[in-house]
Amino acid sequence: MTRPILVAGNWKMHLLADEADALAIEVALAAGELTGPDVAVFPSATLIGTVRAALDESRVTLGAQACHEAAKGAHTGETSAAMVADAGCTAMLAGHSERRAAGATDEQVGLRVRAGLDAGLRVIACLGEQLADREAEATNAVLDRQLTAILAEIDESDLASLDLAYEPVWAIGTGRTATPEIASEAHRHLRARMVEKFGESGNEPRILYGGSVKPANVSELLAAPGVGGVLVGGASLDGASFRALIEAAHTGRGS
Ligand code: 13P
Repeated sequence: MTRPILVAGNWKMHLLADEADALAIEVALAAGELTGPDVAVFPSATLIGTVRAALDESRVTLGAQACHEAAKGAHTGETSAAMVADAGCTAMLAGHSERRAAGATDEQVGLRVRAGLDAGLRVIACLGEQLADREAEATNAVLDRQLTAILAEIDESDLASLDLAYEPVWAIGTGRTATPEIASEAHRHLRARMVEKFGESGNEPRILYGGSVKPANVSELLAAPGVGGVLVGGASLDGASFRALIEAAHTGRGS
């Protein structure tokens, strides 16, 4: 089964409630008119209630940006997967490079993927290499290390609730986008590993690309073999720009 392309907006630590409300309404309208791709937004934890209300009755998926690996406990400032599910999320990011940079280990990312799945969330597990890794030709080794920690926590029955996001760290927020060839190469590698582990079912999760995706480059990235969607930061913070991303995905990858 081939899933629809996913256009996902990671709003990171941006927006206050009135801004998030307005943006979510615009995204919901665009998603209602452009019905081809799946659409998801990932606001910060404090905005989940506001965005949930704004997305009411829309087909846009609401997700959290992160969770702690523990089900509950003395973890000041953290949020559990059950809490974000309880707040109305049906999806979650895990292992975003900005969380890894803040200290999340590969093992913790694996446990957080597990926690999200256990809470009934769709999980987008993020992975990607640093510039130094690429320059040292260690990209595949880094992807293998990160993916192995995720695969250690899941089995075949989880694949229906999982997507991966390849986000090369050097392309995030830098304006420096991976070429479609670079994206495809990494996606091919990740897919091969998934199929190695799960056989045919390993084709089930989408593999998204993330890193300086914008309306001007989204079509060529979506047209790249193996790219099953995009995870977008900066360009998802503006209604017109988010609509343009959905539109490109809607019009047959725009290519
Ligand atoms: P930018 O689109 O701002 O580069 O961010 C990408 C990203 O980190 C999405 O998760």
